Amino acid sequence: MAREKWQSKLGFMLAAMGSAVGLGNIWRFSYVAGENGGGAFLLLYLAFVLLIGIPVLLSEFSIGREAQSDVVGSYQKLAPKKPWFIQGYMGLICSFLILGFYSVVAGWSLYYFWNYLNTSFFTAPSGGYEAAFGTFITNPISPLFWHGMFMAITILVVLTGVKDGIERASKIFMPTLAVLLVLLAAYSVTLEGAVEGLKFLFQPNWSILEDPSVYLAALGQAFFSLSLGMGGMLTYGSYLSKDESLPSATLGIGLMDTFFAIIAGVVIFPAVFAFNISPESGPNLVFITLPSVFEQMPFGGVVGLVFFFLLCLAALSSSISILEVPVAYFMRKFGWGRTFSSAVLGAIMYLLGVAASLGMGRWSDVTLIGDRDIMGSMEFVASDVFLPLGGLIIALFVGWHWSKTEAFQATDMASAGPIRHIWRFLVKFVAPVCIAIIFLSSVGIL
Ligand code: PHE
Ligand code: NA
Repeated sequence: MAREKWQSKLGFMLAAMGSAVGLGNIWRFSYVAGENGGGAFLLLYLAFVLLIGIPVLLSEFSIGREAQSDVVGSYQKLAPKKPWFIQGYMGLICSFLILGFYSVVAGWSLYYFWNYLNTSFFTAPSGGYEAAFGTFITNPISPLFWHGMFMAITILVVLTGVKDGIERASKIFMPTLAVLLVLLAAYSVTLEGAVEGLKFLFQPNWSILEDPSVYLAALGQAFFSLSLGMGGMLTYGSYLSKDESLPSATLGIGLMDTFFAIIAGVVIFPAVFAFNISPESGPNLVFITLPSVFEQMPFGGVVGLVFFFLLCLAALSSSISILEVPVAYFMRKFGWGRTFSSAVLGAIMYLLGVAASLGMGRWSDVTLIGDRDIMGSMEFVASDVFLPLGGLIIALFVGWHWSKTEAFQATDMASAGPIRHIWRFLVKFVAPVCIAIIFLSSVGIL
């Protein structure tokens, strides 16, 4: 059976942007920035996106497109009998961990959407939004229902296939989300006390940079947000024909994703300070902050409804790119059908998510890595360890396994200007060295 393909370069762009823009930009960016002190974290994050993220993203796309295979097969094809394919297996494991918790949080978003749809969140529930959210996520049943709903939708989209299911998503919705966020940002900065939030986000407190864990958090967030280092972008690249040009697409995706994160920060942090919420509230930050904003603004109920609808769609276009990674692998390797692969693999991810979800309530005493709960541990291992490690291998593959000519050829830069040498320098030296230093210093070796 011939491998599937994008219908057009635009289809590829939309799908890759859809993968990048998601809960990572709004939910995860704001809570990680909040936990890591704001301004200085933002600068580190931006530096990592530009110097490591975007160059390595171009590399990841080019590996998939060159090989026209899945995350394991691509390395086996391009470098037979060499150990590079280990990145592929890491990516597969990572896809389970990430979609496990991602669909739980997407389930929370779905629950919020539902509560705006039936207008019950138009005004604060008795006890306030924070308490209502707390009651919801600690409940052993209801979050699992919404988590299951979201996973079922993800499976449905993935089993209809790359061309029909994935490509069509998000053509209208992403621009709408961008416009809505800009409007919300404009409203948020008028809130009383907003300046404090803007200072928090944009005024670096340099002393934070003495803590090595901030670097790892910023690096992990850059990778997570760009969908980088897992093989999702490799897999999407593999459905692209060789006659499309990659560098401009990559830059566009990287900048777009970063724009969404910053604008989300401008929506959330002014509100965090205006409503006296702690920026260090963790993963529930947006879920307790945003409803208060919507409650206060004119027509806020409707705005909330539209916002959570779009957030769910953004999460969906990301979750399908995560499920697609093992689906593509199992289809090729074991000859499974698309429907069967999507359903079985999605179900396994669902079960991992059940553990993450119960970790919010019934199993909240369980700590796995350090003092992290189940979801926090899955997030940490996946985004702060596996993704940057995957990125490191990708950078080494493109920078060192490929010759200069091969690397320029594969990235459509055979006749590009001096920029390609900068790119190669970043991928060959800067990215691996930075990632290695950050790893070593966070385990206390440096
Ligand atoms: N980039 C996605 C987001 O920001 C999440 C994601 C991570 C998707 C890793 C694919 C791979 O929401
Ligand atoms: Na993102």
